[in-house]
Amino acid sequence: MTPAPFDPFAYAHAHRREIVWMSQNTNHLVPPEVVGHALRQAIEERRYEGYPIAAGEPELLQLVREDFGLPDGFVTTVSAGATETLYMLTRALLSPGDEVIATDPSYLIIHKFIELSGARTVNLDVYAPPYRLTADRIRAALTPKTRMILLIDPLNPLGSAYPREELRAIAEIARDHKLLLLHDVTYRDFKRDPANAADFAPEQTITIWSAAKNCGLAGLRVGGLIARPELARPILRYNTNDLGVNVLAQIATIAALRTKPTWIESIRSTTRENGARIRAAAESVPGVRVPVFPSDANMFVLDILDTGLTPEAVQEDLLLRHGVFVRAGNYLSPKFGHRFVRVSFSNPPAEVDRFVQAFPRAIEALRSPRPRA
Ligand SMILES: Cc1ncc(COP(=O)(O)O)c(C=O)c1O
Repeated sequence: MTPAPFDPFAYAHAHRREIVWMSQNTNHLVPPEVVGHALRQAIEERRYEGYPIAAGEPELLQLVREDFGLPDGFVTTVSAGATETLYMLTRALLSPGDEVIATDPSYLIIHKFIELSGARTVNLDVYAPPYRLTADRIRAALTPKTRMILLIDPLNPLGSAYPREELRAIAEIARDHKLLLLHDVTYRDFKRDPANAADFAPEQTITIWSAAKNCGLAGLRVGGLIARPELARPILRYNTNDLGVNVLAQIATIAALRTKPTWIESIRSTTRENGARIRAAAESVPGVRVPVFPSDANMFVLDILDTGLTPEAVQEDLLLRHGVFVRAGNYLSPKFGHRFVRVSFSNPPAEVDRFVQAFPRAIEALRSPRPRA
């Protein structure tokens, strides 16, 4: 029997306590007390015995609205992570034959959902400056079949982001051509100058929010959308959470959003300092470069093509020999995935020390043939 291929996630979860988790853009810097007290109290009160309000906790929806600062007239919804809403909206709004202008690299799960609806993505290469779409390139890619533009802002995995004026120009294309604009701002709190596409094209834009990365609550699965009622209504027909989203998860998100202004700046600055240290360590290794720096998110990619090593080999060596978990690029790019690993860095600086020590050693070890046992 051939052995099963190595599963880095199974390994990392099995060794969870020893692993530095830099593979999923998760945030390990939010002080645990931010949600700990609210969760303990909710458990004490046995809130889990009853169903939550189906449409979402009103305070949660209000806090999300305030966080985005959009004018009245938008609907806010909550689902089990942004992922669920992304699935619902592709199901509801796309039909076979539709085209969605998107990027390569990208967060490919959204592409998978688009394809499940029978539509197809038109992936524009963005692995070159400015490492994101531009209004001109979008205009040139329009066809009579174009139905949606997918803007991930900041972009997972590169960490590039859309400047306000470019966002406005892209929103105007959506408005003028009556296209849908999917503005996924999961990493918005790490961006230097965040802006809402919905301010520029309110009728066209579906904004995707998530509590996974800004609030450090990836495991609790909370996210949703903000859109005009005419857009939100058909999407909600595909809601499978008819009895509401996990009540403890909503309570934790409320506690996090209430206090976010008091801790988010410190997380941003630690994340940026971590990014600078990782880049310095990575680029001290011949053949490694960081194409997008500084990142507007809490991740970027290390291009390792010139080392002659594969991202899978680097991922595996860092994980097995150093307990540092990064992500090989093929998960994020059909065309460029062989060139890079993605590293995320909303981690305590001591964990970043481990990366800084491990990375040059891993590359060195992989480059020199190991003595046979
Ligand atoms: C761009 C983007 N959108 C959505 C998600 C998923 O968000 P959630 O955890 O809220 O489902 C991710 C997760 O990495 C992401 O990178």
